[in-house]
Amino acid sequence: MNDIKACIFDLDGVIVDTAVYHYKAWKRLANELGFDFTEAYNEQLKGVSRVRSLQLILGWGGITKTEAEQEQLATQKNTWYMEMVNQMTPAEILPGAREFVEACRAADIKTALGSASKNSMTILDKLQITHLFDAIIDGNKVSKAKPDPEVFLKGAQELDVEPKYCVVFEDAIAGVEAAKAGGMKAIGIGDPEVLHEADLVVSGLDKVPRPPKGGVGEWVFNKI
Ligand code: BG6
Ligand code: MG
Repeated sequence: MNDIKACIFDLDGVIVDTAVYHYKAWKRLANELGFDFTEAYNEQLKGVSRVRSLQLILGWGGITKTEAEQEQLATQKNTWYMEMVNQMTPAEILPGAREFVEACRAADIKTALGSASKNSMTILDKLQITHLFDAIIDGNKVSKAKPDPEVFLKGAQELDVEPKYCVVFEDAIAGVEAAKAGGMKAIGIGDPEVLHEADLVVSGLDKVPRPPKGGVGEWVFNKI
């Protein structure tokens, strides 16, 4: 039994529902290119970098673009995405997310963000929660995308906590795989059938038991 010392949070789909904005912006791009893709396909884009997402989408549409055109399309998608992000307020933090992160900190559990998004800092700023994370590892700081564990291992390193004492919260299949590959516990946020590799799956951070007052040894994450 290990005592959990750190919690590492994905951003999109865990702390805030930007996953919906990503989907809308990609869908708009696909529609302009003359095709569509479903929400089931969208699951494969969660946790995946901007460039790789575009390549997958172009593949689904059977479309070939040069590297320069791809760059332009990714920029266009990001512009539409950021239009939605810029409208965001702290009210859009997902239920229980802020309270859960605060409860961890109050129990002396370190907190980090581990996100593929290059827009993480802007989003945290919009939500006014940047100060709740002891370390922030985003898409600008990693060279290998999830399911590679780099983003979470860097988070653990910056927190100075061994991976086996870390719990990762993720809504993406690739993110759950990354946490497990890094030797961490993975809590899936979403559908248990989709996130079946996670150690435990809940619908949101509002459903995760807070660290018990008597000591983290009794916490559910020390028993899975
Ligand atoms: C991940 C999202 O968090 O970040 C993906 O789940 C997204 O959908 C990726 O593509 C990169 O985000 P951004 O903001 O850098 O385009
Ligand atoms: Mg996510």
